Amino acid sequence: MKTDTPKAIRLKSYRPPAYLVDRVQLDIALDPSRTRVRSRLVVRANPALDGAPGPLVLDGESLELVSVALDGRQLATRAYTLTPQALTIAAPPKGQFTLDIETIVDPESNKALQGLYRSRGVYTTQCEAQGFRRITYFPDRPDVLAVYRVRLEADTSEAPVLLSNGNLVERGTLERGRRHYAVWHDPFPKPCYLFALVGGDLSSIASTFTTRSGRKVDLAIYVEHGCETRAGWAMDALKRAMAWDERVFGREYDLGVFNIVAVSDFNMGAMENKGLNIFNDRLILASPETATDAIFEAIESVIAHEYFHNWTGNRITCRDWFQLCLKEGLTVFRDQEFSGDERSRTVQRISDVRQLKAVQFAEDAGPLAHPVRPESYIEINNFYTATVYEKGAELVRMIKTILGEDAFRAGMDLYFSRHDGQAATVEDFLQAFEDASGRDLSQFMLWYRQAGTPSLVCSLRYDKASKTAALEVEQSLRPLHGRAQPKPMHIPLRLGLVAADGSDVPLVMEDGTRLADGVVHVTKRKQHFRFTDVDARPVPSLLRGFSAPVNLTLAMDEKDLAFLMANDRDLFNRWQAAHTYASRTIREIVAALGRGKRVARGLAYARGLATIVRDETLEPAYRAEVLKLPSEADIAREIAKDVDPGLIHRAHRQLARLVAATLGGDLEALYEEMRARGRFSPAPAAAGRRALCNAALSLLLVRGTPADIARAWRHFATAGNMTDEAHALILLAQTAGPERERALKRFHDRWQGDHVVIDIWFAAQAQSPQPTTVETVERLLAHPLFSLTSPNKVRALLGTLALHNPVQFNRPDGGGYALVADQVLAIDRFNPQIAARLLASFRSWRALEAERRRLAGQALTRIARGPDLSRDVVEIVTKMLEE
Ligand code: TRP
Ligand code: ZN
Repeated sequence: MKTDTPKAIRLKSYRPPAYLVDRVQLDIALDPSRTRVRSRLVVRANPALDGAPGPLVLDGESLELVSVALDGRQLATRAYTLTPQALTIAAPPKGQFTLDIETIVDPESNKALQGLYRSRGVYTTQCEAQGFRRITYFPDRPDVLAVYRVRLEADTSEAPVLLSNGNLVERGTLERGRRHYAVWHDPFPKPCYLFALVGGDLSSIASTFTTRSGRKVDLAIYVEHGCETRAGWAMDALKRAMAWDERVFGREYDLGVFNIVAVSDFNMGAMENKGLNIFNDRLILASPETATDAIFEAIESVIAHEYFHNWTGNRITCRDWFQLCLKEGLTVFRDQEFSGDERSRTVQRISDVRQLKAVQFAEDAGPLAHPVRPESYIEINNFYTATVYEKGAELVRMIKTILGEDAFRAGMDLYFSRHDGQAATVEDFLQAFEDASGRDLSQFMLWYRQAGTPSLVCSLRYDKASKTAALEVEQSLRPLHGRAQPKPMHIPLRLGLVAADGSDVPLVMEDGTRLADGVVHVTKRKQHFRFTDVDARPVPSLLRGFSAPVNLTLAMDEKDLAFLMANDRDLFNRWQAAHTYASRTIREIVAALGRGKRVARGLAYARGLATIVRDETLEPAYRAEVLKLPSEADIAREIAKDVDPGLIHRAHRQLARLVAATLGGDLEALYEEMRARGRFSPAPAAAGRRALCNAALSLLLVRGTPADIARAWRHFATAGNMTDEAHALILLAQTAGPERERALKRFHDRWQGDHVVIDIWFAAQAQSPQPTTVETVERLLAHPLFSLTSPNKVRALLGTLALHNPVQFNRPDGGGYALVADQVLAIDRFNPQIAARLLASFRSWRALEAERRRLAGQALTRIARGPDLSRDVVEIVTKMLEE
């Protein structure tokens, strides 16, 4: 795990592999501490390269090497060299040859959760990005594709279930039934990061799916015994995702089996191993009593995401890890589209944009900023970021906006047919769209290369005499530290000009062309767009649907914002207007508080909200989104420098209190009207009603009368589902009265036996703005149900504090920073990936006011001086402290 001076890997140093592996045969005998791995590789020099191939270098980490044989003959130790990172054979034969390698690995003590490990007694693997080298010696890079045959052997009682990629070809018993084996074969060549195995005592639910060409696929989801009834929603989502990919992208599943396994200890959400997806169990298990609507939704989207990888990631994989967005950005785009089709497009877009800004914009504005396709890395695991995933998805969305629906689909079809079975690049991807559409995307390519969020400053001038509206747009992008001045990018700007009656003015350009799609293409640093036949001054509604990931600046008075909030036909921008209005108001209150003054602001905004909330033509889920104020972190990001999270918290509450006071009666009525009745349904319509009900409850609790507290308590105590129960728990945990302790105790006693649900209890406490939260979190680290080696527990407790509780994480005495820094150092000893992720929650520290900045800097410096840091943490902390 520990390394010497970490070295950067660069995109420009990419070289094709010197050797190819055509076939892999693995024979793995599972054992808790001494698992034996026999690997037979069929290898040959890469024919695409001329000249001598040189030595064969096989990656390997934390392995015990037993033996190496070449073409059946044991290699003498002088025929190869062994380092902690590699096994090198100096002079392999010229033609095809066979390597037999035996290694021993220790799954039980593997707490890094990369390679082969054990989670609650289940053997499982995680090979992306570079975990396969912890199982056996291999060229661990995504452009080496091989066909795998895997034999697994284990104690029958310990691991009655044995799974790997592809199809089961054989199984049988050994030692009179004491042990058994299973053989799996995956006919599709794949990179080793997609290899997986599972062994354990699991139970499963099964179903089938018939593809549109009539092939029957056996589906199964494996879970811990007793959890079978909680896997049904995931199965339902899987079948919907399979049908959707056929309908929308023309993609069919290609094997006879598709297995999913839920495991408890998992570094991320889930993994798309070919034919054997492995999931964090919190993203599989759901029932009305145990899962919130947010979890139901997340399960649907992650199930779809991993399934969609079968084409975007597996059939077409990445040439090297710099191309990560090729599979991740594209697959996130696909899962967002799926969720939009299954649910409400507008609400989906609002929540995707909220998430993008909360995480990706913050990343792009701080020391961890990097291009969607990075050019260098020290530890690739640090690049599974919001920039690669979420901004990567935005880039695909912009391609669709620029080309239009049909050309986009033609480009995707061409990409699939041209690169099936290959390891591709971002250039290959864009080329397919260029070839299918005849459009030039060379300027668009800059989106993949230039880091940072472009800023778009716009203004609209209306000329009554000529009836023209002139839109002036200026784009700019701050250069990354030490980099050249960025070039102007191709920014698709979707817009509307809204007339006084709320209708959209037809967009006619000077030359008579009509913008049917409402999109203008900003390609220069400064550009004008002139619209003719505009009868009266319109209100501009810019960046509809968030057509590009930019920071938009447009001088607008409050009247215009209120007008759009009430009238924009584009529902996304109607929400955006409300959001902008609220955030502007909160920032004004912050500015006043900073000068020691109090100002009354926001009444017109609150009245505008009331109109939307009463509008029954708008679906409840949408109204719930509008009722949610921008988060404190949103405000901090917009303020951008000398941020005082304490003031933001006070200003935020002031506006929330005003809204609650102004809308009080409406909120009470809504609360009653939307209250859950009858049987629970996870369907979007029912979830939308719960969201609106809970949004009303939250605001009413800010008002804080005894009746409001009693309502929240009742909501908790009589909840018929986890959405209501968890929401009320989180709210009550924010208060200081006796209901807080009562609710926490009750929830704990009810759910202490469920390792998934209890995380809500940890998170509720970590999220509380109460001044003792840091001490509470510290105490909970010692709670018997907490475990530092479980990533879900770390995320629930420490991740929630650091990312979802700005006022207490950033408390003025630095107690939040110190606590998180201590835990980063502790976790780094066994799980560098999780340590580095937790550390990344400091990403906005430079935007803080001076005293907090000093304290956060101190905590980071202390981490940087820690002994034996992992490459993961070294890379992040170094960037974080760079001037
Ligand atoms: N490829 C996975 C996905 O996004 C994510 C992933 C990458 C991952 N590395 C991981 C998951 C390590 C778990 C552990 O779908
Ligand atoms: Zn993915």
